[in-house]
Amino acid sequence: MTVETLHDAPADERRFLFVLGSAREGGNSESLARRAANFLPSHVRQEWIRLSDLDIPRFEDVRHSGDGTYTEPAGDAGTLWRQTLAATDLVVVSPLYWYSVSASVKLYLDHWSAWMRVPGTDFEATMGGKRMWAVTAYASDDVTLVDPLLGTLRNSAGRLRMHWGGALLANGSKPGQALDDPATLERAAEFFAAAGARTGTPVRAGS
Ligand SMILES: Cc1cc2nc3c(=O)[nH]c(=O)nc-3n(C[C@H](O)[C@H](O)[C@H](O)COP(=O)(O)O)c2cc1C
Repeated sequence: MTVETLHDAPADERRFLFVLGSAREGGNSESLARRAANFLPSHVRQEWIRLSDLDIPRFEDVRHSGDGTYTEPAGDAGTLWRQTLAATDLVVVSPLYWYSVSASVKLYLDHWSAWMRVPGTDFEATMGGKRMWAVTAYASDDVTLVDPLLGTLRNSAGRLRMHWGGALLANGSKPGQALDDPATLERAAEFFAAAGARTGTPVRAGS
């Protein structure tokens, strides 16, 4: 598994984790996210993780069995957990699949439920105050069909008291199409404009 790290910064700076959730590489959502990320200042640390590269186990709901806790995630899930905790900004890059997030992003969110119940750690408190952003490509002519995806992400962020950074949306079906529209390129250039500030919420990394 590869975690791509791009930065030029001391550790107390903003740290963006881009979680790529498409079922293909180099698709519209990813291109759009990479385009927007080009406009982040170089002192902002960037990490990119592709969910389809990871071996994330099926989620099991043990909340009401035994003591209702989970063991610390290991392997790729452990890497994803640590990266999530260490970020100040979480960018969920998910195409619109059946009016919602992709299955890999949904599985990632389901695992948050486990991560909230790992003894000796406090996922919920650590996530509070971070910022979530959404980057999404969709094929339909009707942008309102993205609303359920946005609701899922915004509500998930709210559940953990994360801030909402906003959503960058683009229309396209074949890879590359989303960047054909000059208005999309303008929105991508401005999307992270406010994120250059050196005011990231402190987090307890990897606790
Ligand atoms: C499984 C699947 C489900 C999809 N569902 C929708 C949908 O509900 N609404 C829509 O507008 N586009 C839908 N699409 C089209 C994708 O959102 C579109 O092709 C997008 O550009 C894919 O993003 P990507 O290039 O980042 O992979 C779907 C595509 C796939 C493969």
